[in-house]
Order: sequence, then structure tokens, then C-alpha cells
Amino acid sequence: MDPTVITLSLHELFLGLDFYDSVIDLASGPCSTSESLATDLHLLLRTIRFQLLASTRTCPCFILGFIHLGEPFILRTFNTAPTNITFALLFGERFDYKDPIFTTLLRLIDEVMCLLGSPFLHLFNFYPFLGFLFNAHKILLKRIEDVRIIIREYIKTSKQDINANSLKSYTDALVFKQREDTTKRENLFNDDNLIASILDLVMAGTETTATTLQWAVLLMMKYPKIQKKVQEEIGRVVKPGHWATYDDRKDMPYTNAVIHEVQRFITLLPHVPRSTSADTHFRGYFLPKGTMVIPSLTSVLLDRSHWETPHEFNPNHFLDADGKFVKKEAFMPFSLGRRNCIGESLAKMELFLFFTGLLQKFTFQPPPGLTETDLDLTVPKTTFTLRPQPQLTCAIPLE
Ligand code: HEM
Repeated sequence: MDPTVITLSLHELFLGLDFYDSVIDLASGPCSTSESLATDLHLLLRTIRFQLLASTRTCPCFILGFIHLGEPFILRTFNTAPTNITFALLFGERFDYKDPIFTTLLRLIDEVMCLLGSPFLHLFNFYPFLGFLFNAHKILLKRIEDVRIIIREYIKTSKQDINANSLKSYTDALVFKQREDTTKRENLFNDDNLIASILDLVMAGTETTATTLQWAVLLMMKYPKIQKKVQEEIGRVVKPGHWATYDDRKDMPYTNAVIHEVQRFITLLPHVPRSTSADTHFRGYFLPKGTMVIPSLTSVLLDRSHWETPHEFNPNHFLDADGKFVKKEAFMPFSLGRRNCIGESLAKMELFLFFTGLLQKFTFQPPPGLTETDLDLTVPKTTFTLRPQPQLTCAIPLE
């Protein structure tokens, strides 16, 4: 497949639009034109709440429904819920966490993320003629193809069942647009581009938020005083029997600061390679069109001149002397510019709602026999996203 076609497609799809706008724009078929952005965000909130309810209502078990309260379980358990939100958006259905398609996709995403970080893959990128020596890129392409096979099935089903008056998913919206688009000379919404767009979201819109949530829980275990302060704030702002709303973050400066600090501290996605789309002069250097550029978000997120204690987990980075939340210019985990993260608003909302929902119900503690100091904040191996070491947590119910 021609990569420029994929880029063009994504660019066209998302250009100048927030992700939701683009979904809504695509989905604004004959009957849904009256639906406002607010309604869609509301629906999304309901989806997220449903996810939380689905997980906590299965108590005395936790998220996966088979973990006993207070007993240790793996941090990766937290991957399920954020991943399911993105899948629900893409495919129009929420998966059961044991659904074979769901578990297969989770496994494939995991393998792709590990392979993307493989040093052999980087070597192959720089010296493709040595490809016969390496295997990582071949396995990577195979795993991506496996994901494509699943996506193709969803597109096929969408084409069969699509109802222009009720588009249920991003896939439906793209298929709808494809039909509209056949009249145009350039068929941007061809099948290859549809698959590429969905694949991009499957990869970029799952592991990222999910891993951040894992880190958030790990950091709360590591810093119980901070966890307690968050829980106290939740207790002050959120009425018993209710979940926090995204709007509540304005009244929850400490919680908001903690979530921002999690994102800053973990520098989740430090290097996303891009290439110059035109000949570029930058700080005395000439970068011809097509030059690979790898920005370093770490250099900003851990910059000494911007952060008081860059290598320490310190929510005060986002609080003023009165405890009010302060925005920081150097906070850019979603990057900047025209190709910045299109899922930023979704990710922020998910992180806030999941994090507050979890801490409203549970206190997270290291497993028996371990203390906070035993918890490991180093990154295990090279993966595309910087993940925490595989570790266990215990969820102790509040009340
Ligand atoms: C904590 C969560 C997330 C973080 C930290 C994050 C961060 C990033 C970063 C740094 C980039 C590269 C931007 C650039 O090169 O300038 C990116 C790209 C992207 N993100 Fe996210 N992201 C997150 C969640 C999401 C979610 C939830 C979605 C969608 C549902 C998403 C979809 C994408 C897509 C499609 C791209 C590629 C955009 C393009 O190629 O133009 N991300 N993200």
C-alpha cells in the first residue's frame, strides 16, 4: 500500500477537526445532522460510565470480573476499559472482556507495541538492505495484517448492515462516506484508506490511555499520601452514589494536577517519527522534503528550566501557592501542531473519569509482603510506549 495515500487519507479525514468533530462530521448523514457535539460527548460519557458500572457492579470482583477484592491482580487489567471505549467508538459495540476478538486484538496490539520498540526494527529502518538478517519487521507486518483481517470483517459487516439513518460507529461513518464519495474523482475513502484509518486508531487510541491508567494506579500505590488527598477531594466534590463528571475537574484542582503530573512524569510516547512534507530550514539546518524527523517530547516534559523537580512525581508542578490548578506551556504529552494527537480530548476525559471512578471506590496498595519502596518505576524494555514494569496491585474497597 502506498504510504502517501494513507497519510493523505488520514490528513483529509482529520484535517482541522477535532476527533469528535470528524466523527460527527462523517456521521452527519441525513438523519443525524441535528445531533450536536454536546450530545455525542454526552453519549461518550455514558459509555464511559457504563464501562465503570459494568466493572464495579461485578463486585465483589473487579474490572475483569474474576479478581477478588483485596487480592493481587496485574496492572495490565486496567487496559481493558480504555481499550473498549475506543473499540466501541470504532466498531459500535462494547466487547465482553473475555470475547475472543477483544482478547485477540489486545494481544496483537501488545505485540505490535513491543515489536515497534525492538532495536532490530530500528536497525532495519536505517539499513533496510540488511532486512534478510532481521525478523522483527516481518513479524510486525504479520501482526498488523492479523489486525487488518479483523478490521476488514467489521467493514464488511458495516457494508451489509449499514443504515444511513443510524450510523453506529466510526466504521459505519467511513463506509457511509465511501458511498457518498464514489461520485468524486479521487476516492479518498477507498477500502485501503478505511482500513488504514481504523488501524491507526486501534493502535494509537488504546494502548496509550490504557498504559497511562496503569501508571496512574502504580503511582498512587507508590505515593499513598497523594492517593489519599485525591480521595479526599473526590469525597468533597462528588456526591455519594454519583460519579464525577468531566466538568467536576474544575472543582478538583488536586486530582487534575495529579493526572497531569502522571502524564508528564511517564513521558508515555516520547518519540513519534514524522517526515518533512516540504523542504524545511530549521535553526540553520536544511531538511529536504521527506527527511525523517523524530521529535523528543521527553526533552520538554522533563526540562529543568520548566519543571522544578523534573524527575520526581510532584503534582505541585501544576498547582499554585493557593492550590489552584495551573496550565503549563511545557505540558505536551499529546505533542503539538497539525499532526498532534487527535484523541487528546477523548484521552483526557477517559483518564479523568476512570481515575476518579476507581479512586472513589478503591484504595490501591502494593500486594502483601511489598511496600511502596519495592514498587518499580523503571521502564522494563524498549516498547513504543513507555510502560510500567509488570506489577501487581490490590484494590481495597473504600467505605
Ligand atoms: C494518554 C493518551 C494518549 C497520548 C499520551 C497520546 C499521544 C500521542 C502523540 C504524542 C502522538 C503523536 C503526535 C505527533 O506526532 O505530533 C499521537 C498521535 C495520534 N494519536 Fe494519540 N495519544 C493518546 C491517546 C489517543 C487516543 C485515545 C486516540 C484515539 C482514540 C489517539 C489517536 C491518535 C492518532 C490517530 C494519532 C496519529 C495522528 C496522525 O498521524 O496524524 N490517541 N498521540
